[in-house]
Amino acid sequence: MNIIITGGCGFIGNALSLFLKKNLRNSKILSVDNLSKSYSKFNQKLLIKNKIKNKKIDLGKFNSLINLKFKADIIIDCSAEPAVEISRKKINKVIKSNFLSTLNVLEKAKKDKSKIIFISSSRVYPIKSSYEKFKIFKKLKKHQTFNENSNLTGQKTIYGLTKFASENLIEEYNYSKNLDYIINRCGLISGPGQYGKVEQGLISLWMWSHMNKLNLSYIGYKGTGEQIRDVLFVDDFCKLVLIQINNFNRFKNNLFCIGGGSKNAIKLKKLTDMCEIITGNRLKISKKMKTSIYDIPYYVTSLNKINKFSNWMPETNLEKGLKEIYKWMKINQNKIRNFF
Ligand SMILES: NC(=O)c1ccc[n+]([C@@H]2O[C@H](COP(=O)([O-])OP(=O)(O)OC[C@H]3O[C@@H](n4cnc5c(N)ncnc54)[C@H](O)[C@@H]3O)[C@@H](O)[C@H]2O)c1
Repeated sequence: MNIIITGGCGFIGNALSLFLKKNLRNSKILSVDNLSKSYSKFNQKLLIKNKIKNKKIDLGKFNSLINLKFKADIIIDCSAEPAVEISRKKINKVIKSNFLSTLNVLEKAKKDKSKIIFISSSRVYPIKSSYEKFKIFKKLKKHQTFNENSNLTGQKTIYGLTKFASENLIEEYNYSKNLDYIINRCGLISGPGQYGKVEQGLISLWMWSHMNKLNLSYIGYKGTGEQIRDVLFVDDFCKLVLIQINNFNRFKNNLFCIGGGSKNAIKLKKLTDMCEIITGNRLKISKKMKTSIYDIPYYVTSLNKINKFSNWMPETNLEKGLKEIYKWMKINQNKIRNFF
């Protein structure tokens, strides 16, 4: 099977490329990535070691993929600028990298009759829904999950808008050009191989900062650290994509909410406690009171739909996942230091 993975030198695309190469017999994988991140070249080397090539293409340019001489059975679209705050400042760049790139993927898929797996984001939901669900959660002390039918109307950030627009464009191509797709609308994903920054990759940033005794701040929500996310570890996500590839017809032309679910939801303050226990280091975390208008206090995924289609469930719980991240950071610290 021939597979193109866009964003193969990014966190998720790289993990998927290596996982599928190992677990999908006779697969030929080609990564397409413009190497725009500090860790791109490092990840590219990991691909090369595993006999996977990367084609350096800027997917944010019209028709940049259509002439690529590699016909794929499946294109897995993992390339994007994933940082919400960056999308506030660099609107042009983010629309090109996140939306125009999807058009390029679709045109290539149309030409080669490829199937598509698209990695979307939970940020398609309006910001106000997060506040509403958080309020109910605090009152009832029971998680209020987002599902495929949750409200989508309202401001969602430019990043969220590009992902929502890409989802819609894929559905249009399915309707008018018979392209088959699976959309995985993902919440927070973490794991070894992620280089967290304040704007993206919270779990990894928290662990790295604890390990190296660096400064951290609780940002927004009066600096309380009360915000909540569910966490899915990348290995579990890769396992899901493998199931979807092997059973494409069962999943096809559906959108699924994918995440760690209620069992893997964690308050930022509690994440601090867990990082302290694992690293043995205690930080004095400062408070930044101001909440960004782009931030959300709460997101937890409903896994009901994906569980109707398969018995896939996240296998890695928070404790195990965090320990795996720590172990990877400890072993590789000198090689990866510059990427944080
Ligand atoms: N990490 C998460 O928590 C999370 C959650 C939900 C959805 N997603 C989505 O998953 C995908 C992968 O995210 P990630 O965390 O691996 O991010 P990442 O930044 O590590 O990887 C994205 C990759 O895309 C490449 N890229 C960006 N613009 C490009 C362009 N114009 N042309 C070619 N390549 C380009 C980058 O070089 C990078 O290697 C994104 O679509 C993101 O929106 C991520």
